[in-house]
Amino acid sequence: MKLWGGRFSKQAAKLLDEFNASLPFDKELYIEDIEGSIAHSQMLAKQGIITKDEAEKIKEGLLEIKKEIEEGKFKWDISDEDIHMAIEKRLIELIGDTGKKLHTARSRNDQVAVDFRRWVLKRNLEFAKKIKELIKVFVDIAKEHTTTLLPGMTHLQHAQPISFGYHMMAYASMFKRDYERFMESFKRNNINPLGCAALAGTPHPIDRFETTNALGFKEPTVNCLDTVSDRDFALEILFNISMLMMHASRLAEEMIIWSTSEFGFITLSDEYSTGSSIMPQKKNPDVPELIRGKTGRAYGNLMALLTVMKGLPLAYNKDTQEDKEGVFDSVKNGLISIEILKETLKTMRVNKENMLKATKKGHLTATDLADYLVNKGIPFREAHHITGRAVALAESKGVDLSDLSLDELKSIDERIGEDVDLSLENSMNSRKSYGATAPERVKEQIEYFEKFLKESR
Ligand code: ARG
Repeated sequence: MKLWGGRFSKQAAKLLDEFNASLPFDKELYIEDIEGSIAHSQMLAKQGIITKDEAEKIKEGLLEIKKEIEEGKFKWDISDEDIHMAIEKRLIELIGDTGKKLHTARSRNDQVAVDFRRWVLKRNLEFAKKIKELIKVFVDIAKEHTTTLLPGMTHLQHAQPISFGYHMMAYASMFKRDYERFMESFKRNNINPLGCAALAGTPHPIDRFETTNALGFKEPTVNCLDTVSDRDFALEILFNISMLMMHASRLAEEMIIWSTSEFGFITLSDEYSTGSSIMPQKKNPDVPELIRGKTGRAYGNLMALLTVMKGLPLAYNKDTQEDKEGVFDSVKNGLISIEILKETLKTMRVNKENMLKATKKGHLTATDLADYLVNKGIPFREAHHITGRAVALAESKGVDLSDLSLDELKSIDERIGEDVDLSLENSMNSRKSYGATAPERVKEQIEYFEKFLKESR
């Protein structure tokens, strides 16, 4: 018989059990469910709603169940519907009638809200920690490459010389925003739903501040009607993961491009690349490709829950049971993606020579020549035109603009003097504005992120 079976005269159909049950996936919440129930029953005792002895018996029973689950001895039965009822039923089996008092002044609506919220809160912190480890890798790589030249791109076309360290710091900036988003979600959602009961609160003299402290929340939620159907915390982590994966997919795409024979900027380590089942010579970038692919899946999970929540009337509706699988999936795939991205970056080889060779293609210092001419008092439009002619000359000779001799440059315009320096290094070194690619500025950025890593502990 179901725990709620009192008003029913027939057993539920097997098909209904299968359709209705969340137990196969919400088992994941067993720790939060047990902790929540212990906090709830301790509070009930403190308030004189049950006795201290009863609360102790309940606690012992719940801890026994935790052990059973962890040792694989717990008997999962889909007709229990969900983790909340599976544990409560087992508690009653173990300690008898006292177990029946646990659900006083509580509903599964606030129970699932508190369990799932706490599970998600913990994962926000896990993501934040992982992201910091990733940022540390960007910092380590950047330190070694503050003067390693590569072509900075716009439109995926060579644009201006930058350093690889500068490029890494771009990603550090991106992922730092992700870190902040996970932390902000944690702070905003760190509020306690327990005690809201079904939707309207309870006539029992409970103390929601007591369970708030016991479970480590900042404060109780303010309105119970909202609380039992609020899934913003779940949507937020799905969005945070989507954004994080979008960022990871951009780096993944660059790693895929960089590891082609055309580019050859990086070589992925054997540990983090894969072979082909037919072409013996191949080494494939499956890691970044999977990250790129899993990003689509993360977006899907976000869209799915947004759609589930759309138009739901207050308060709890069973629709919301559909909130969990997507979140579990996004969390699992998001965490492993960031972990493996970090390892792949740590172990890849950076091919400086190939980066330099590529930087010599595409006349990357053309803007520098135009800027030089502007400094000689020539209006920018004219300087742009003169530079265009210099580029054409270099093209006709099959060399890079930075390789033209002073005489060749002078043949384009007499005003070009000895002080002209179109080298790639000079181009990079001269970009000293705050946040720019000059090595001393990149060092500043490295220090900025080191400070962030230290202070956000
Ligand atoms: N398994 C349910 C869920 O995940 C728990 C809440 C059930 N509440 C109810 N009134 N049926 O949403």
